[in-house]
Amino acid sequence: MAKFYVTTAIDYVNAAPHIGHAYEKIAADILARYHRLKGDDVYFQTGVDEHGSNVEKAALRAEIPAKVFCDQMTEKFKHAWDKLGLSYDHFFRTTDQSHYQAVQGLFRKMLAKGDIYKGTYKGLYCEGCEDFKRDRDLDEDGNCPNHKKPPYMCSEENYFFRLSKYKEAIGKWLTENPDVVHPDGRRKEVINQLFDPELTDFSVSRSKENVSWGIPVPDDPDHVIYVWLDALANYITGIGYSTDEKQFSNYWPADVHLIGKDITKFHAIYWPAFLMSAEVALPKKISVHGFITVEGKKISKTIGNVIDPNELVDQYGADAIRYFLFAATSFTQDGDFSKVDFINRVNADLANNLGNLLNRTLTLVEKNCQARVPKQEMNNVLREEANEVYVIAGKHIDGMEFAKAIEAIFALVDQLNKYINDEKPWALFKEGKTSEGNVVLYTALDGLRRTAIMLYPFCPQLACAIWEQLGYETELDSKNGKAINIADLIPEGQAIRNKGPIFKRIEEVAVES
Ligand code: ME8
Ligand code: MG
Repeated sequence: MAKFYVTTAIDYVNAAPHIGHAYEKIAADILARYHRLKGDDVYFQTGVDEHGSNVEKAALRAEIPAKVFCDQMTEKFKHAWDKLGLSYDHFFRTTDQSHYQAVQGLFRKMLAKGDIYKGTYKGLYCEGCEDFKRDRDLDEDGNCPNHKKPPYMCSEENYFFRLSKYKEAIGKWLTENPDVVHPDGRRKEVINQLFDPELTDFSVSRSKENVSWGIPVPDDPDHVIYVWLDALANYITGIGYSTDEKQFSNYWPADVHLIGKDITKFHAIYWPAFLMSAEVALPKKISVHGFITVEGKKISKTIGNVIDPNELVDQYGADAIRYFLFAATSFTQDGDFSKVDFINRVNADLANNLGNLLNRTLTLVEKNCQARVPKQEMNNVLREEANEVYVIAGKHIDGMEFAKAIEAIFALVDQLNKYINDEKPWALFKEGKTSEGNVVLYTALDGLRRTAIMLYPFCPQLACAIWEQLGYETELDSKNGKAINIADLIPEGQAIRNKGPIFKRIEEVAVES
């Protein structure tokens, strides 16, 4: 059995989750579910990044002790992810005690090797990025371009990580393995960053005077470990690095780290450097996605366009959101969430095309076949087509081209609808051409079975509803990596269950703003 370990970035808990965070977590869920269907041994880890100055400041503003603040915020993330149907195996928190110990162990190991040394940092720091900045990283107003705020000047004793020692090896890794950073444009970008002579050793601790919310540096309580070293380590500590060797060696190296475009440097330069220093294998792939905007604008509290994923799910259901976010965007590029586009798209695809195909097929089966799957005989052309779509959709998912996978699946749905329109099975039965009518309905039923399987990673609830209405007693949804075989045709004689529309049209009139 192949293993598949997928991770997401762990979100800062300084503010509640928004639809941009949700986007990345859903992508990981799509991959996890897709690999479980293939029978792989999947481990899907997501979680929260609780330390550092931005979280510490948010807790101060809320006038709550940092840990209590983190507990409350963490619940919000978990709640949202559960509502969105995210099938994670592990929800990681950087405040877990076992993580503290593992991170301190890593720090000790790097120190003992001479990869960490003490020095003084004097320069700028952006709390939003939790990153040290140089003047040339700022925009013309002297602000951090990501956070539109000026970084502050700090001067403190720090522990430094000897990045200089690993630059060459990382360069080799990035150039010799063209697939480790996806898409390729991001890999090239990171290679340029790496070979910038100004990218040198960097701080891996903060002075307690300035940041106290973090994992203490071992044997030096005046310092806390830099939040990025702490956070990146989640990918290994979460699967048992230094605590559960068996699980760790089963899942590591990660098959894919999913991250947003703003944190590529940390993942494609710092992370491999830390791993090399700790003598741990490097991840197989880092996949970088674009940013989600809302109604064409950057998500921002000041603009007031932060959409709470909980509210969206309450209003429209998880699958509609999951579907739209991945049907309407290209993963590697920025994508937009617009209410009008959302409503139009899900009504057209889920309520009309898919919903109607299921409904009309089941109604015809009830009327003409005593509500049972007719004789096993499928239209050859459509069977070939459907086989091909399965292969194509899989390739697109492997290549993180989710919208293209969805496009292929819905092209099959369209074809099946067209086939029913053209063949007019109701007329065939009326004319007594029962076997011809049966072929049409069998083809539609088996096409729906395949559609349910292919749609499952994207819209698990809808897929399971189709599966159930097709009369299956077995679960399509399974966490144990029980492979579903696309080639198993729908069994003749199986009793279908027509339960009405699987997706209710959104009747709300979307007004363009
Ligand atoms: O960077 N659209 O946390 P974070 C899509 N704690 N993705 C977005 C987004 C948007 N509008 N806004 C943010 C951190 N993201 C660190 C990560 S990992 C060891 C530590 C993505 O809460 C962002 O790119 O600022 C990142 O991948 C994730 O959400 C968490 O961002
Ligand atoms: Mg961020």
